[in-house]
Amino acid sequence: MGETATLTFGDQTIELPIIVGSEGEQAVDITQLRSTTGLITLDPGYANTGSTKSDITFIDGDKGILRYRGVPIEQLAAQSTFLEVSYLLVEGHLPNAAELAVFESAIQQHTMLHEDMKRFYGAFPKDAHPMAACSASVGALSTFYPDSLDPRDPRQVEVSIQRLLAKMPTLAAYAYKHSIGQPFMYPRNDLSYVGNFMHMMFGNPCEDYEPDPVIEKALDLLLILHADHEQNCSTSCVRLVGSSMVNLFGAIAAGINALWGPLHGGANQAVIEMLAEIRDEGMSARDFVERAKSQDDTSRLMGFGHRVYKNFDPRARIIKTACFEVLESMGVHSKLLEIAVDLEEIALKDPYFVERRLYPNVDFYSGVIYNAIGTPSNMFTALFAMGRLPGWIAQWQELHESPDFKIARPRQIYTGEIERAYVPIEKR
Ligand code: ACO
Repeated sequence: MGETATLTFGDQTIELPIIVGSEGEQAVDITQLRSTTGLITLDPGYANTGSTKSDITFIDGDKGILRYRGVPIEQLAAQSTFLEVSYLLVEGHLPNAAELAVFESAIQQHTMLHEDMKRFYGAFPKDAHPMAACSASVGALSTFYPDSLDPRDPRQVEVSIQRLLAKMPTLAAYAYKHSIGQPFMYPRNDLSYVGNFMHMMFGNPCEDYEPDPVIEKALDLLLILHADHEQNCSTSCVRLVGSSMVNLFGAIAAGINALWGPLHGGANQAVIEMLAEIRDEGMSARDFVERAKSQDDTSRLMGFGHRVYKNFDPRARIIKTACFEVLESMGVHSKLLEIAVDLEEIALKDPYFVERRLYPNVDFYSGVIYNAIGTPSNMFTALFAMGRLPGWIAQWQELHESPDFKIARPRQIYTGEIERAYVPIEKR
């Protein structure tokens, strides 16, 4: 037996095995805890709980390290493409040229939506949030593809993965087109994954549209940076929902909803709204930082802080650099970027943020890029979902392939009333 931790409880002493990961992370294995002692653990927000072993993504929050399948995010950002990263996450290794070509072509073949999906979109109110439309429409894919819903049939899983990766940009762009009352644009399979998304978002049937390569590259980079982040809220949600053996579409729809919240992926929309509020109200960055610190004010400095990164978020560094490059190459002067830089400078020197180890996260600068290229703020989180999709898929697959697979079913400590008799209504 390897190293153990000793737990003494009452007159019992038990040895709990220590599990060590490939990067030296350690965990106490408590799988036998309840059966041997009757105890459970309590960890609200799961800050100390490992829910799984995983081969997919490694994060060291103190050192600011993020790697997909062992490859540093900085190298992927500089040299890879989103589809190659998707392959890496889903298949576990970087593809050779032939493997990548097959993967890309399989995805290209599935970009179109069933025509009846248009009617589905038509029923949403115009002001429906794109994340609501995306989760509903991803869930609805299961109604259109009843032939590929078995999570344990490899061929059905493969085709569901191709369909999801291919159709997600179409679904997201349709949500936007519906909200502005423009016709849906059919996908163009001669364009890149991102180029095609831009065509469906920004093109219209009356004019030719050619994606701007600078924007195409920037969007591809943003998708790469969002592609996986181990057991975050939405990914844990995909695994938890997936553990009921629901089909892939159902599990991903749940992840999209989890991502939507402003404490998670919805923060990118919240950041741009915060920056616009500061600009429109003529507030100084210093005043806003004071507000975010105040106990009497519910405002937070959105895009700051992270459960895991306590030093810096490597994604935020890459995005900040890209943000300056994109805006410069577009010749755009952004007041919002200026405010963001001021906020960051002030917060990073402020004892409140320093003591709590709060740094800019992935969402702090991404919205400035989305905004500069003409993406409405309510679409930001849908772009995050497009990026996170291969990570969710890889995690869902890993769950199903694990020898430890079982339905996720946490326990609780009950703190309510002890047994009491039912009182008929006339006697209450
Ligand atoms: N602005 C002001 N204060 C903050 C912020 C912030 N952005 N983030 C954390 N704090 C404070 C908290 O008030 C708390 O202070 P206290 O100890 O005096 O009570 C302390 O820092 C710790 O914060 P928690 O909320 O307990 O930390 P947790 O790990 O639970 O939350 C979270 C992390 C949700 C990301 C948080 O930092 C936050 O709300 N940030 C703003 C929203 C955001 O940017 N979310 C995106 C995260 S990245 C992603 O999900 C893709």
